[in-house]
Amino acid sequence: MNLILLGPPGAGKGTQAQRLVKTLKVPQISTGDMLREARAAGTPLGLEAQKYMEKGELVPDEVVTGLVEERLKADDCGPGYMLDGFPRTVVQAETLEKTLDRMDKKLDHVVLIKVDDEVIVERITGRRSCPECGKIYHVVFDPPKDGICVCGYKGDFVQRADDTEEVVRERLKVYYSQTAPLVDFYGKQWLVREVEGTGTPDEVFQKVRASIGLE
Ligand code: AP5
Repeated sequence: MNLILLGPPGAGKGTQAQRLVKTLKVPQISTGDMLREARAAGTPLGLEAQKYMEKGELVPDEVVTGLVEERLKADDCGPGYMLDGFPRTVVQAETLEKTLDRMDKKLDHVVLIKVDDEVIVERITGRRSCPECGKIYHVVFDPPKDGICVCGYKGDFVQRADDTEEVVRERLKVYYSQTAPLVDFYGKQWLVREVEGTGTPDEVFQKVRASIGLE
């Protein structure tokens, strides 16, 4: 299965992707994670991306489209792929179409997770993740049981530098102006599956599964 997870920052794309990976057995391709890895490794691309990410702006299209094109060539994408946080602009979506055509790959579903802005701010400012395995938690809604991650890690959980209220509000503005037009772009291709992102992560997962015909 080939899919895109679309939705505002903090809608739960990463949380659902971590569940879907186990069900679908296809890799999660998160441009946000790829850019953060490049930044942590101190590569020129990562350092360039940091300038945009810390302000909540989008990294230039040509940087991310190149990363995704390379990643889609990997063997593990043979059975399918799950794009999380990409595409983010119409230009990225058009480039992806050409890439998929060239590779003879297709797209089955665009899952749109919808959540209100104020819930998003609450979710993002409380987000923490495991520094060992990357599992996503929330200090109130989804804390690690007894402070221990499912991977066994115990210690401080990490907060992303762009998870402040000020930067989240900027990311929301960017989402509505540059990413929301993709709903129409993919709507015209009858690919959009809308999911209400409220409820517990497991409840939302049931809705996501149903939206792509898994139940
Ligand atoms: P990226 O990393 O993609 O961030 P994002 O799209 O802003 O999305 P998030 O990761 O913040 O949220 P999410 O929807 O995955 O939510 P999560 O599951 O973690 O991008 C970061 C930056 O990189 C961008 O600003 C940009 O600069 C750059 N970038 C990345 N891709 C790019 C691209 N294609 N083009 C250009 N630039 C790009 O959940 C959030 C919190 O809520 C967690 O704490 C979680 O536990 C909690 N939660 C989840 N579900 C629920 C629920 N049902 N109930 C209660 N709490 C929940």
